[in-house]
Amino acid sequence: MNNNAILAPSLLSADFADLGGAIKKIENGGGKWVHIDVMDGVFVPQITYGQPVMKCIRSLTELVFDVHLMTVHPENMIESFREAGADYITFHAEAAVHHHRIIQQIHECGAKAGISIVPSTPVADLECILPYVDLVLVMTVNPGFGGQKLIPACVDKIALLKSIRDEHGYNYKISVDGGVNNKTLPLVIEAGVDVAVSGSSFFSGELKWR
Ligand code: DX5
Ligand code: ZN
Repeated sequence: MNNNAILAPSLLSADFADLGGAIKKIENGGGKWVHIDVMDGVFVPQITYGQPVMKCIRSLTELVFDVHLMTVHPENMIESFREAGADYITFHAEAAVHHHRIIQQIHECGAKAGISIVPSTPVADLECILPYVDLVLVMTVNPGFGGQKLIPACVDKIALLKSIRDEHGYNYKISVDGGVNNKTLPLVIEAGVDVAVSGSSFFSGELKWR
């Protein structure tokens, strides 16, 4: 397995009473990005953490902060997440109408812009926006919870996004989120993923990275 991908452990599976320890685990476990799942209790049923919590952990590490907004109205929280230390800000295609405007907004405040699709959204829905994004986050589970099983059909979206990128000379990274473990990692690497998010498998110590 030729694994040149970036590992982005998801804080969702960390011990929230020891976020400093979680950051250390990520650094020691080969993580280069910290994946920060922001859930609002509306787009998805749970509520996690937001800008004030992120500010507290920002001073602990130089790692890239990869914010995954699972929220409605992502346009209302772009600047505040940037101020809290986000490097990448990814919102859901399904949660917004004006994708291009939000991407501009993210770029204007100095962050990289990502767009994410849930398992039921096809890559074709992103056609008009792919020239402008820095990252596409392919969800391989239905968002909202850690520890779910990867949906194999979603892995095909990674290869499709890669071939579209090659064909048009686009620049986005392809990230995968949901159910990445020792068994499924080779599938997503083989499909051409650039960033692998892992929550439960990373924090349980099961994931063997390289
Ligand atoms: C799920 C989140 C994921 C989650 C992945 O909605 O977006 O980032 O932490 O967890 P695992 O790796 O356990 O599927
Ligand atoms: Zn996520």
